[in-house]
Amino acid sequence: MATGYRSIACVCVAVMAMFAATTVFGHGDVQPQAVDTTGLEPLGDEWLLENPYSGNERAIEIGGVGYSQNCARCHGIDAQSGGLAPDLRDIEPGAEGDEWYIDLTKNGYMQNGVEKMPAFDGILSQEAMWAIRAWLETKQ
Ligand code: HEC
Repeated sequence: MATGYRSIACVCVAVMAMFAATTVFGHGDVQPQAVDTTGLEPLGDEWLLENPYSGNERAIEIGGVGYSQNCARCHGIDAQSGGLAPDLRDIEPGAEGDEWYIDLTKNGYMQNGVEKMPAFDGILSQEAMWAIRAWLETKQ
């Protein structure tokens, strides 16, 4: 008898843990959110054309959070597209793709008057955008 009770309790805890995990994922990636970039070297007001944080561990950590809060709802969890928007594991890595990436993220993308991707200028800091780029590069 005692054993039976204990295994029921175990199942309950597991189910509760699953709910908790789903709730955390369910939130957070809906509204665009400012990203806390504490610990990164500030970049000033000039837009850079190359990622100053490429390979920077702190930036990669921050970028992963920034991505899941701001980009995952369209580009997919962990940069794996579910078909809604392009798979960002395929974009040009390194300095060659940096300028194109920052331009697109800053300005978003309009097609025939329809906003396909929102502009992140004014929502995310330059630091956050480059941190996301640094994280994306680890997924390629
Ligand atoms: C509302 C949905 C949406 C959100 C949110 C979004 N994107 Fe996009 N993104 C798109 C769509 C749709 C396209 C494809 C536009 C097109 O038709 O060329 C795109 C294209 C891109 C591309 C070009 C990919 C390619 O292969 O051409 C990059 C880079 C990109 N997004 C980065 C980001 C980043 C970084 C974020 C988060 C800061 C983000 N996007 C958030 C919808 C979104």
